[in-house]
Amino acid sequence: MVRIGVLVSGSGSNLQSIMDACEDKDIDGQVSIVISNMPGVYALERAHVKGIPTKVVSHTEHPNRENFDEELVKILKGYEVDLVVLAGFMRVLTPTFLRQFPCRVMNIHPALLPSFPGLGVRQKAIDYGVRFSGCTVHFVDEGVDTGPIIIQAVVPVYPEDTEDLLKERILGLEHKIYPKAIELFAQGRLSIKGRKVFIKDLEKDEDACLVNPLLPG
Ligand code: GRF
Repeated sequence: MVRIGVLVSGSGSNLQSIMDACEDKDIDGQVSIVISNMPGVYALERAHVKGIPTKVVSHTEHPNRENFDEELVKILKGYEVDLVVLAGFMRVLTPTFLRQFPCRVMNIHPALLPSFPGLGVRQKAIDYGVRFSGCTVHFVDEGVDTGPIIIQAVVPVYPEDTEDLLKERILGLEHKIYPKAIELFAQGRLSIKGRKVFIKDLEKDEDACLVNPLLPG
């Protein structure tokens, strides 16, 4: 059973989907600790409802990033966490942190990486005029949204979309692919070689294809 530490900064809807998947035994694991860098966020309430321990570690109360990250590591190690899951966590982790959990930190990003890394990416995708966007679960490396990709899911984008509409469309899929990525990790089916993540016994659909706008007929 994988022990999962989840880092959050906000609403925690991805945290919810992960806690639910553990409860439903879709993931052979448990969320052992939820840490927020922001006090009073709804993610903490969601964890309380499930009876999962929480901690607030405010980045503003630490002199620098390393010091903040060392505090996170101390707590995560204290809970004997095997996998660290970033779920709307709005801080970039230092190499000091990542060295403690090699190939054991995941993030979800609301775009199809490597397109649109960083912040404000749904609006950027709409403004660019892309026909598809989506979400990406990836391992975290020392860059911003640059680590090896585990799962991606695709949604159509329309020129008249608002950021909220696209957010809703993508978020529904985030809640499916993040638990799936963690399930694969918990099953020991993920291995990283260079930039690539290989998935043991992966089912393939080589004809899978989406076109937007729809082809006539
Ligand atoms: C999600 O859109 C995720 O892709 C991004 O931050 C947001 C977190 O939402 N990294 P929530 O807190 O899980 O509801």
